[in-house]
Amino acid sequence: MINIPKGTKDALPSEIYKWHFVEDTARRVSEKYGFKEIRTPVFEYTELFSRGVGDTTDVVTKEMYTFLDKGGRSVTLRPEGTAGVARAFIENGLAGGAMPFKTYYLISAFRYERPQAGRLREFHQFGAELYGAEGPEADAEAIVFAYRFLREIGVTTAVRLRINSIGCPACRAKYQEALRDYFRPHLAEMCEDCRSRFDKNPMRMIDCKEEGCKKYTLAAPRMLDFLCEDCKAHFEGVKALLTAAGVSYDVDPSIVRGLDYYSRTVFEFTSDALGAQSTVLGGGRYDTLLGQLGAKPTPAVGFAAGIERLLMLLDALRVSPAERKADCYLLGMDRASRQKAFLLAEELRSEGLVCETDLLGRSVKAQFKYADKLGARYVVVLGEEELKEGAAEVKDMETSASARVRFGALAQYIRQRRKKDNG
Ligand code: HAM
Repeated sequence: MINIPKGTKDALPSEIYKWHFVEDTARRVSEKYGFKEIRTPVFEYTELFSRGVGDTTDVVTKEMYTFLDKGGRSVTLRPEGTAGVARAFIENGLAGGAMPFKTYYLISAFRYERPQAGRLREFHQFGAELYGAEGPEADAEAIVFAYRFLREIGVTTAVRLRINSIGCPACRAKYQEALRDYFRPHLAEMCEDCRSRFDKNPMRMIDCKEEGCKKYTLAAPRMLDFLCEDCKAHFEGVKALLTAAGVSYDVDPSIVRGLDYYSRTVFEFTSDALGAQSTVLGGGRYDTLLGQLGAKPTPAVGFAAGIERLLMLLDALRVSPAERKADCYLLGMDRASRQKAFLLAEELRSEGLVCETDLLGRSVKAQFKYADKLGARYVVVLGEEELKEGAAEVKDMETSASARVRFGALAQYIRQRRKKDNG
């Protein structure tokens, strides 16, 4: 027996309606904001991520699925979606089109992390990116879009929005220096990760989860106190729009995000119902990435939600999306009726109904049992007599009522009943 690779999961047919619910909601909400889907390759040249995501990040230094292809080029399974979208934007000359450029994606992504609840090696994201708008309106639109998505999924009662500003490269440089001055005397007592981040990117020390480091990080200087006038005004602008839109948030100076490309606004939606991996959606502004990848400098903002974490949250909250069950099951009592059932099922499907019929030569009793398992509301019974008459006995499995319905009127009958049931 060959097992599934560690840190990966099957999405089984019995559960897939939950995935579809999340994906359909993502598409519907994206369209409302004018975001169109983009599909980029699962793998890219490794350089895209080391340059784009940043070679001081855990994602790039420890977690990438990188290998040489048969042509000897280093390729990497995407650890996230933002860098690939940026590459596609540049390569396809999309900067020449209408601005702002807005796109979304539903993808799988790969990170070699230690698997635990809510942390997988292959996981799925719904992400959105908006290019070409530098004002706070764009940050606010990305956040209210994310919020609306979570609300339409039905989880906003259990999530909190935390926002922060990590400034621009100019004000952040001053902050990084202040952080180094602050951490320097404690460095010997801090964890290895913190020590290596001290030189490369001391801001990442702020979100260290090690108990031994927390006592220092909690009292560390805050980026918000170092923002330059422009960054401060930008952040105030974002907050004002969120407040006006009725989206409540906490300003949380510990939100610094794990990827290098961010500047100014960063945000996360977290939930206590998720345990240690509590971030269900994260994002922010990244005004330097496109320029860094060779495009003309283009401001950008976006977010991505982890689909598995959303599904965990739905389960934890006992929010159950509707699953479309079979509308009807066509039951043939003998060989000739089974054949008629087969053909009638085809007609009903053409009319848009979901129906099944017997493929195993089962007895009448076994067919009823199977119809019940399918959750079919109506069973259309066909026997010798029904065939002669050109009408079937339609049994409502919920009320046990039954009615005689002409073959030609079956679709309409079931459709009308369904409409009535759905109110
Ligand atoms: P991220 O915070 O690395 O951001 O990932 C976004 C979301 O993906 C997380 O909040 C989490 O729900 C989910 N996720 C991340 N890693 C895992 C994992 N190992 N297992 C399960 N779920 C996971 C980004 O990826 C950015 N590209 C978001 C972005 C888009 N920023 C701007 N635009």
